[in-house]
Amino acid sequence: TVTYDENAAAPADPSDSLFARACRGERTSRPPVWFMRQAGRSLPEYRRLREGVPMLESCTRPDMVTEITLQPVRRYGVDAAIFYSDIVVPLRAVGVDVDVKPGVGPVLGRPIRSRADLDLLRPLEPGEVSFVDEAVRALVGELGGTPLIGFAGAPFTLASYLVEGGPSKHHEVTKALMHSDPELWHELLSRVAGISAMFLDVQVRAGASAVQLFDSWAGALSAADYAKYVHPHSAEVLDSVIDVPRIHFGVGTSEFLPLMASAGADVVGVDWRLPLDEAALRVPGKPLQGNLDPALLGADWPVVEREVHRIVAEGRRAPAHIFNLGHGVLPATDPGVLARVVETVQAAGGAGVAG
Ligand code: CP3
Repeated sequence: TVTYDENAAAPADPSDSLFARACRGERTSRPPVWFMRQAGRSLPEYRRLREGVPMLESCTRPDMVTEITLQPVRRYGVDAAIFYSDIVVPLRAVGVDVDVKPGVGPVLGRPIRSRADLDLLRPLEPGEVSFVDEAVRALVGELGGTPLIGFAGAPFTLASYLVEGGPSKHHEVTKALMHSDPELWHELLSRVAGISAMFLDVQVRAGASAVQLFDSWAGALSAADYAKYVHPHSAEVLDSVIDVPRIHFGVGTSEFLPLMASAGADVVGVDWRLPLDEAALRVPGKPLQGNLDPALLGADWPVVEREVHRIVAEGRRAPAHIFNLGHGVLPATDPGVLARVVETVQAAGGAGVAG
């Protein structure tokens, strides 16, 4: 058998990286680690750079995108970079009046609720996000052997913002539309799916090593409604991705994890509600990503350390495990704690036997 030193210098080709091998379901001696929302958020160097530049404008400036994407790689030595952008960037690119309000999230000038409103959702032309193409190409050059993860919002999560007009606790306008006018609903989701698929395609063609589809609000749905009203559209996005591994992530989706997997996931993202050993039973054969509760990063270090060890151990029940949080980094998180989490995971090599 060949033995690897998982902590040796990163190989020059990202497809040989620890992250890529875990995505392919190869058992690695320790999990690769990165964090959702590692770019931006809690980093002081990010806040300094962003001063006076609105969020969505920063996403259109390849120099800023490149720098912000690299910041957490430099600071933490994570095993993958996530492209700095936002799920609403492709919506804005096709002309939707959407902005990201600090402390709030995406807000629409006018929500999309009628058949006439659908005209606002025309297909995305790659040239409309040429700044994404440019930034990804620059990053792939800078990152060397470290893989770059591209991403898009899943159709349901994007549709919720579009229909509600902003963040929503109960998603009631969205659910009312879904059930009252299924035909309009499916047309809306299929348009959004086309936009997300093209956004991913631009990133993959420019050299992204993997993609993640974020369905942050899918957990608001029952399994039956997810299967009927959402799954076909997320499947359309994931099916369109060629040649790179696809991570499918939802929050509160433990009750329908097999549906998340069957939509076309090579890796299933798991939130903190479900232990990874249990998740491994629900989606047998699938590599898993997760699942430290981001809210626990504020606890005393021994608590965090114990959680990291528990998750690494439970992750060994899956064919492969990519260490991450169960949702994104919270804004008040101490970057020093994230650095210690990375160190702890990266020191976990050979700490136990696969079981
Ligand atoms: O993960 C990364 O570090 C890469 C960049 C990234 C951002 N948003 C940057 C961002 C990614 C992958 C996203 C995805 C995203 N955006 C999701 C799915 C992931 C999740 O966390 O559920 C969602 C739901 C959005 C929509 C959105 N954009 C929200 C809810 C917010 C937060 C609003 C706030 O201020 O609390 C944003 C803004 C946003 N997107 C910020 C960043 C770094 C913060 C903006 C700022 O610092 O001014």
